[in-house]
Amino acid sequence: MCGIVGYLGDEQAYPILIKGLHRLEYRGYDSAGVALITGRKDLAVYKSKGKVAALEAACEDKDTTGTLGIAHTRWATHGEPNASNAHPHYSESRNLALVHNGIIENYKSLRAELEKNGMTFQSETDTEVLVQLIEYMMGTHKCDLYNAVQLALKNVIGAYAIAILEKSHPDQLICARKASPLVIGVGKSKSGRTEFYVGSDATPIIGYTNQVVYLNDEEVAYMDRSGKMEIANLNNVKVTPQMVTLQMNLDELEKGGYAHFMLKEIWEQPNALRNCIRGRLNIEQKDVNLSGVIDNKERFLNCRRIIICACGTSWHSALIGKYFIEEACHIPVEVEYASEFRYRNPVIYKDDIVIAVSQSGETADTLAAIQLAKDNGAFVYGICNVIGSSIARATDSGTYLHVGPEIGVASTKAFTGQVITLSLLGLAIAKERKTLTKEMYELLIEELCNIPEKMEWTLANNKDIDQFARQFTYCRNFLYLGRGYNYPLALEGALKLKEISYIHAEGYPAAEMKHGPIALVDHEMPVVVIAPKRGMYEKVVSNIQEIKSRNGKIISVVTADDTVVRGMSDYCFTIPDTRDCFVPLLAAIPLQLLSYYVAIARGLNVDQPRNLAKSVTVE
Ligand code: F6R
Repeated sequence: MCGIVGYLGDEQAYPILIKGLHRLEYRGYDSAGVALITGRKDLAVYKSKGKVAALEAACEDKDTTGTLGIAHTRWATHGEPNASNAHPHYSESRNLALVHNGIIENYKSLRAELEKNGMTFQSETDTEVLVQLIEYMMGTHKCDLYNAVQLALKNVIGAYAIAILEKSHPDQLICARKASPLVIGVGKSKSGRTEFYVGSDATPIIGYTNQVVYLNDEEVAYMDRSGKMEIANLNNVKVTPQMVTLQMNLDELEKGGYAHFMLKEIWEQPNALRNCIRGRLNIEQKDVNLSGVIDNKERFLNCRRIIICACGTSWHSALIGKYFIEEACHIPVEVEYASEFRYRNPVIYKDDIVIAVSQSGETADTLAAIQLAKDNGAFVYGICNVIGSSIARATDSGTYLHVGPEIGVASTKAFTGQVITLSLLGLAIAKERKTLTKEMYELLIEELCNIPEKMEWTLANNKDIDQFARQFTYCRNFLYLGRGYNYPLALEGALKLKEISYIHAEGYPAAEMKHGPIALVDHEMPVVVIAPKRGMYEKVVSNIQEIKSRNGKIISVVTADDTVVRGMSDYCFTIPDTRDCFVPLLAAIPLQLLSYYVAIARGLNVDQPRNLAKSVTVE
């Protein structure tokens, strides 16, 4: 949901900002813009509709010199995606330029108030209201920009991460945040002087410095060319910046020879999951150790219920986690859409554990759900991928996925990373609560260790999906069916297809099909059935029979030695045998590849599907 970049230092800012925008393009890509204090000490703003490449083209004949600038890539919330609604926005006097990620909820009343005081507006955005409000505060309170930002933000309801330039103070950069992420990188220029980088996350900063400060809610940061950095809250009370060392490296951010990030991330899964289990799962001793559970043992021993809050793909992995934790730990688990949970007065007990699952760690609804849980006294546990993200910092304890940065908008390795992390969590809780026999505990651990290798087998043995996927280019609908642990995977398979190929798809529990969706089945309807030789295999075989007798096209995911379902299918993806609870980890791969290659065959940009953004920081 919008990406922000900023730079203040000795280098030319424009190339750094553009590179940063490209890295943040996964957050939104309907328009982009840049503001620079140019060599002539002008405050220049350039913007254009479309992706960052369009902005670069628009800037070719412009003055892009200067060593201080801010930039933005947008995912529209207020006003259509066009150049005038793109950021940065000038204030009326053109003394200020501001970029913003988030939503100002009371922008209409603020705008009306400012208009009453004679201010005029160029765009329909909430962001322009913000920059105008700041300028208004500077005028009425006769204060500097740093104080005016604090005063203005006190009047704002909503979410913001902002960066601002001031023409009359061309050596300072100011930023602030509330409920939208913002990171400040602190580096050294070639001449040894301090330089500053700003990003919606650390990706635009990697490669320049590994020293960062994460701004907290309602904090405003001031940086200048002398190397001074000061942070204060909205009451101008100074806060000591906490410097953190980033662990991510540049290689992790590149496509590494793959056509798309999504494809790279699909193929990375075996190693990503090895990293996820490393240090947590001890194969020699057949044991699981999660510090988040060990450090909070009493909580996990005494809890009577777990509630998992998540959105989208993370909600699907949470559902798989529910099945596993209920089976392994005998604790009731409820899975909630964070967006529903936060607004429906749910019953939350003090001995509940609320788990937030989020790749980005920035999803606004999930953040709000955990705040509600905390307000009601529950213990909140985070399962996030992005280190230092808002959810990771807002939770009482948690476990990182450690699957590396996920750049493709459609989640792949984070999904399997979440499933494996929830399994580790289930095993760690079962160990404390002694709800599994030693034999079963060790069997599950052994099998979990085999998963990365079995994923490699799956990738190597489903290489012709690209050829096969082409025949679905013109399909309008798909059904995905699965039972037990594979029902959430059916939902995930359908979501993957929808989001990147724009083909309508539904996931269903296989047995539910005859309660309605079967009416849709005809010779034009491809039905993807996850049918491993485990669990309710015979029942799934009967479901396939029901579809076949209505001429539906069967695409199945089967165990390698299967002959029955293979014989009934129009096409088969094969996976190695594994325990029921781990089938989704393997079966996810062909479903991810199917959606990828269908989208490619339709000529679509899989890494940047229309209307989507990687990090949903607005509700
Ligand atoms: C789908 C996808 C989204 C996210 C959802 C939650 O491929 O990526 O559905 O899963 O927006 O995002 P996180 O996990 O960052 O909270």
